[in-house]
Amino acid sequence: MAYDDLRTWIAALERAGELKKVRTEVDPTLEIAQITDRVSKSAGGGPALLFQNIKGHTGAQVLINQFGSARRMNLSLEVNSLDEVADRIRAFMDVKSPQGFLDKVKMLPMLAEMGKFFPKTVSTGPCKEVIRRDHFSLDWFPILQCWPKDAGRFITLPCVVTRDPKTGKRNVGMYRMQVYDGRTTGMHWQRQKVGAEHYREALRVAAHGASGPGNEKSGNRSAAVDLMARSSGGSVLAEDTPGGKMEVAVAIGTDPAITFSAIVPAPPDVEEYLIAGFLRQKPVELVKCETVDLEVPASSEIVLEGHVHLDELRTEGPFGDHTGFYSLEDLYPVFHLSCITHRKDPIYATTIVGKPPMEDGWMGKAVERIFLPLMKLTIPELVDINLPIEGVFHNLMLVSIRKSYPGQARKVMNAIWSLGQAMFTKCIIVVDEDVNVQDIGEVTLKALNHIDPERDIQFTLGPVDSLDHASRLPNYGSKMGIDATRKWPSEGFTRPWPDEIVMDEKTKALVDRKWKELGLE
Ligand SMILES: Cc1cc2nc3c(=O)[nH]c(=O)nc-3n(C[C@H](O)[C@H](O)[C@H](O)COP(=O)(O)O)c2cc1C
Repeated sequence: MAYDDLRTWIAALERAGELKKVRTEVDPTLEIAQITDRVSKSAGGGPALLFQNIKGHTGAQVLINQFGSARRMNLSLEVNSLDEVADRIRAFMDVKSPQGFLDKVKMLPMLAEMGKFFPKTVSTGPCKEVIRRDHFSLDWFPILQCWPKDAGRFITLPCVVTRDPKTGKRNVGMYRMQVYDGRTTGMHWQRQKVGAEHYREALRVAAHGASGPGNEKSGNRSAAVDLMARSSGGSVLAEDTPGGKMEVAVAIGTDPAITFSAIVPAPPDVEEYLIAGFLRQKPVELVKCETVDLEVPASSEIVLEGHVHLDELRTEGPFGDHTGFYSLEDLYPVFHLSCITHRKDPIYATTIVGKPPMEDGWMGKAVERIFLPLMKLTIPELVDINLPIEGVFHNLMLVSIRKSYPGQARKVMNAIWSLGQAMFTKCIIVVDEDVNVQDIGEVTLKALNHIDPERDIQFTLGPVDSLDHASRLPNYGSKMGIDATRKWPSEGFTRPWPDEIVMDEKTKALVDRKWKELGLE
């Protein structure tokens, strides 16, 4: 049974012994982060934490580390293993065109199941228990400052809802929000994310009108294009942009499938509410916002509604990030709140990021497992992948492949660099299928033995993660692929390739039999 909301999820965590309630008074400035950091680094990721006595916020509660272990990640998606989710995806992808009546009948249960994925809009919901259009402030909520050099307090687990101004398609993305004051925040959608593309699309529409570049309503085309280009460089505000606003809604404290779907690097056209419906196998119930034309999950704890102005950028950051370093300040759009709705006594859900391992590492691992079957659609020779937690999602991908033709490892690297957010991968190591990429020791041994660095390392240039502080330019830099597969004569390698050392079965069996007698246990 799907979790109806954050509260049923918290109750399930408690029943499973996965939740610790903290009744001692704690400070949302740094102290909660320090406690959570220690807990995240304890064996298995520690428990989820529900802080119930927050300094300066009588009656408020903060939920953190809800996804912070392999077991909780499974619980959140109601599976025993993430492979179950991958198997369900695979089953849907395996559907072939039905050959006859019987095949069509066999497809009916699957079609019925698909019907459950689509969100449905309901007239009202718990997130409307309290509606504040006039007197409201973000200061009501126990928003954390996580690290000493953070620019301030940040909302770190928000589901940010936007709509493509041209197609009307919705997107839900998780982008942190720096609190500037009680009614204004930053909107940290990085350049390559869907929210940022909606923003650019809104700029284009404002400059050209809905019908595109041919129709220059404002005559301000160059200004908008300029802002898009200049904002990529992280430099200045555009004074002469077309103006206008883009509507944004933010849901905080949703059921875990919805929260998780906001981080999933889905293709832009696949709506996250649909992904959440697939994951929870029950439609997400949505309600219309009060002041913007957007829909949010009806059971959200807190909903922030408002606008991003198209002619306004403001310094955002620094922020202690999941790389283990502070992400540098840069210019980002500003979110102006027009209304807050919330449940009575809302529970504020948040996370902290910092040096791994932390909660987001477990979420990243779930993305890795769930996306493997989808990656195999375009890269069928993929056997397995591993994004080690210390590689912070985008720095390192270990890939095993079934190699069938010369140069295939390089083909795979290029395919990964052209696959959605996998384009950010700074270093890809490709090994043969007999290497277990989940065993870092085995990869290190075999990959480093198998390479001639000058021959086997491939550099390329392209977009890099906005959080990469080492690239020559923000968002643009180099990436490296290492072909650590066995080299073939058809790849120009004519020396003999040595056999791997393995003891013969007869001797192993002999030692098995004598092992106790040897007294070496
Ligand atoms: C805890 C957490 C915080 C994140 N913060 C940001 C952020 O501030 N900006 C950003 O662009 N991506 C951030 N991400 C990554 C995005 O959520 C992720 O790339 C997602 O796929 C974006 O959605 P989109 O593809 O719909 O744009 C964060 C991820 C997690 C797990």
